[in-house]
Amino acid sequence: METYTHRSMSVENDRVVVIGGTSGIGEAIAYGFATEGADVIATSRRESAVDQTASELETLGATTARVTCDVTDEESLQALCAATTETLGGIDTVILSQGAIAREPLLEIDEESFDRVIDVALTGVQRVIQTFGPEIADGGTIIPISSLTARLSMAELPAYTAAKGGVEALTRAASKELAPSVRVNAIAPGFVITPQNEATYAEGTEKRSRIDERTPLGRVGDREEIVGSAIFLSSDGAAYITGEVLTIDGGFATSAF
Ligand SMILES: NC(=O)c1ccc[n+]([C@@H]2O[C@H](COP(=O)([O-])OP(=O)(O)OC[C@H]3O[C@@H](n4cnc5c(N)ncnc54)[C@H](OP(=O)(O)O)[C@@H]3O)[C@@H](O)[C@H]2O)c1
Repeated sequence: METYTHRSMSVENDRVVVIGGTSGIGEAIAYGFATEGADVIATSRRESAVDQTASELETLGATTARVTCDVTDEESLQALCAATTETLGGIDTVILSQGAIAREPLLEIDEESFDRVIDVALTGVQRVIQTFGPEIADGGTIIPISSLTARLSMAELPAYTAAKGGVEALTRAASKELAPSVRVNAIAPGFVITPQNEATYAEGTEKRSRIDERTPLGRVGDREEIVGSAIFLSSDGAAYITGEVLTIDGGFATSAF
C-alpha cells in the first residue's frame, strides 16, 4: 500500500488571537486552542478580564500577552496586531467573538442603537480583517462568529440580525480577496448558554422549553461545543474550505417541527 497521509488537525504552536476572548464562546475557544498547544492572546475592552484570561492561558502552558482592544477603535487594533506579532512571532489565526446586542423592535429602534450594534458586530469585523489580513501567515485563517439569526429572524433583534447577515456576506467577500494565502470561514452558533443570555435561557423559562422542544438534539448548546469547529477550521484539515459558514445549533435550522 502506498504511504497514506491526510491533513493534520493539529493547532500545536499556532499563533492565535481571540477578540472577545475573555468571556463566553470566545473564552472557551481561547482555552481550547491553548489546551491543544497553541499560543493564544485573548483580548477585549476590559483590562481586568484580559488579565484574568491571560493568567488562565499561562496555566494551560500558552505564551500570551495582556493587550486590551476595542473593535470600534482602529488604533487599538493596530496596537494589538503589533503586540501579537512581537510576542508570538507572527499570526496564524484570528477569531472574532466580540458581542453587541440591542433588544428593540425594528419599527422603534433608534439610529444610535442600531449603529452601535453594527459598529461592533459588523464594521468591527471589517476593521479586524483590514488590520490583520495582510499580517496573517500564509495558510492562516480568520474565523468570525456569526449567528443563526443571520438566516432565521428573531423578534426584536433587527440590528443584530442585520449585522450577522453582513458578517456572513463579508466572510465570503474576504475569502475571495484574501485567497489563496488566508482562508476565511464563519461559525454560526444556535442557542448557546453564555453570560450574555444565561438569564433569558435559564432552565424552566418558557423560552428555554421552546428551544429544547424545537431542537432535534433536544437541548441548548454548551460554549465548549463551539470550540472543536474553530480548531478544525483553523487547522490544515480544513485547507480546502473557505468562504463557508458552519452552523452549530443541534439541528435547529434544518428542522421544521
Ligand atoms: N451565546 C449565544 O447563544 C450566541 C449565539 C449565536 C452567536 N453568538 C455570537 O458569539 C459571539 C460571542 O457571544 P457570547 O455569548 O460568548 O458573548 P459574551 O459572553 O458577552 O462575550 C462577548 C465578548 O466580547 C467582548 N467585547 C464586547 N464588545 C467588544 C468590543 N467593542 N471590542 C472588543 N471586544 C468586545 C467582551 O468583553 P469586554 O466587555 O471586555 O469588551 C466579551 O469578551 C458574539 O459574536 C455573539 O453574537 C452567541
